Amino acid sequence: MTDGSLTWIGTSWKMNGSLAFARAYATGLRARAGAGWPGIQPFLIPPATALAAVSAVLRPGSGVLLGAQNAHWEQRGAWTGELSVDQVADAGATLVEIGHSERRAWFGDTDELVHRKVLATLRAGLRPLVCVGESAEDFAAGRSAEVVTAQVSSALAGVTPDQRPAPIVAYEPIWAIGDHGREATPEDIAATVATIAERFGDRLESVLYGGSVNRQNLTAILDVPAVGGAFIGRAAWTLTGYLDLLDLASEHLACSDVPLAVHSPAVHHSVKLVDH
Ligand code: PGA
Repeated sequence: MTDGSLTWIGTSWKMNGSLAFARAYATGLRARAGAGWPGIQPFLIPPATALAAVSAVLRPGSGVLLGAQNAHWEQRGAWTGELSVDQVADAGATLVEIGHSERRAWFGDTDELVHRKVLATLRAGLRPLVCVGESAEDFAAGRSAEVVTAQVSSALAGVTPDQRPAPIVAYEPIWAIGDHGREATPEDIAATVATIAERFGDRLESVLYGGSVNRQNLTAILDVPAVGGAFIGRAAWTLTGYLDLLDLASEHLACSDVPLAVHSPAVHHSVKLVDH
């Protein structure tokens, strides 16, 4: 990222959390958000049932962005069980997560549908957070960059560099996600993240990394060149877990801003992406 760009640190709760949990978490986050986390853009993606309640706590002025875990590609109509981008915007979301590997695996989110959802999200003035990632088999075969490039290319078809808000891509290798995931090393992910940034950076706000991010590996991941933040699951499913990660990232960035000679080699390498 260039000067002025933020490091995005956010979490999706997936299918977890009652309204009481959501309100308590948001209230605790709001209390700490007053002081802010310099250099960090926090974001929270609760279940759809909690969006409006969390929004009521966080807005206005907390600086924490709110996202939906999914939205439909059509604006309205006979789509039982689905939510439109306008509905999630109405509930307070400004981000829409699209194409998480769990949705691709279980709910038929093909590259084509991901693309339609990206366009619908942009039409509504919201920011798509497009998740991409390769299988363990593709990783083992050295095809990560190839697979992920195809996913991003399809998702962003027709999206131009002047698009605002610009989409975000979260690179989330399937083999690194969840309870059975293996933590990726910086070496595992560096080339694929760099490929996404090089090929698509002019159309993206940022490239995040997700998959078993936790307090032990967060700063090493943030130091991977072109990584612009982290998209976190389990480690941020408690308020204290998320606050801890926000504090850690913020301290790390502050430390990394010290001139090289003073504080080498902990330099924050994130690239550019779109100009503001
Ligand atoms: P995890 O989830 O951090 O629990 O592995 C990440 C994700 O699915 O985005």
